[in-house]
Amino acid sequence: MSSIDTLLANNKKWRAQMERDRPGFFDALAHQQRPRYLWIGCADSRVPANEIIGLAPGEVFVHRNVANLVVHSDLNCLAVLDFALNALEITDVIVCGHYGCGGVDAALQPCAGRIVDHWVRHVRDIAKFYRSEIERETTPRKQSDRLCELNVAVQVVHVRESPIFQLAREKREVRVHGLIYDVADGLLHDLTPTVDEVRAIEPSCRIGGQ
Ligand code: CO
Repeated sequence: MSSIDTLLANNKKWRAQMERDRPGFFDALAHQQRPRYLWIGCADSRVPANEIIGLAPGEVFVHRNVANLVVHSDLNCLAVLDFALNALEITDVIVCGHYGCGGVDAALQPCAGRIVDHWVRHVRDIAKFYRSEIERETTPRKQSDRLCELNVAVQVVHVRESPIFQLAREKREVRVHGLIYDVADGLLHDLTPTVDEVRAIEPSCRIGGQ
């Protein structure tokens, strides 16, 4: 059996189990999706959004890329944000990073000149901006962990300061959360203190403001 055949067989088993557990589940989903959450996370295979927050298909709208970035000019992410806020009317945006992120680690190493280094440059800029804070950590592992946290916090600020989010926020209550996942123990941690710290430092960009 080829690996794809194995996946197709797995899918049949999963589908049958879901129908046993929740009869009519797929029929209901076929008519509409009404997720409450938008998840912006890392593409890392160890951080699957639905599984780690215990949500079923239809309950979380997901965007993933290397190092969970929200880049001001990334049409892919902006289109997801726009659709989530204005079409699906989600109420909570979650930016989730993870410790041991390869994209973040790459930003702490010399540039290797690969295509992905252009993307990682966004994290490298954060590492430069917060260099003194990162260098207070005593080991490379702790420095990487701190940059993982700061990176999430900066991306939360990017969501909050995007015109898409600001315009949606004028119409209704929408929240943005920063979380970090530990692949070593499977636990999520709230990064609100780091987000508050970064929001106090980062230059702000508000519609109608500076
Ligand atoms: Co990662």
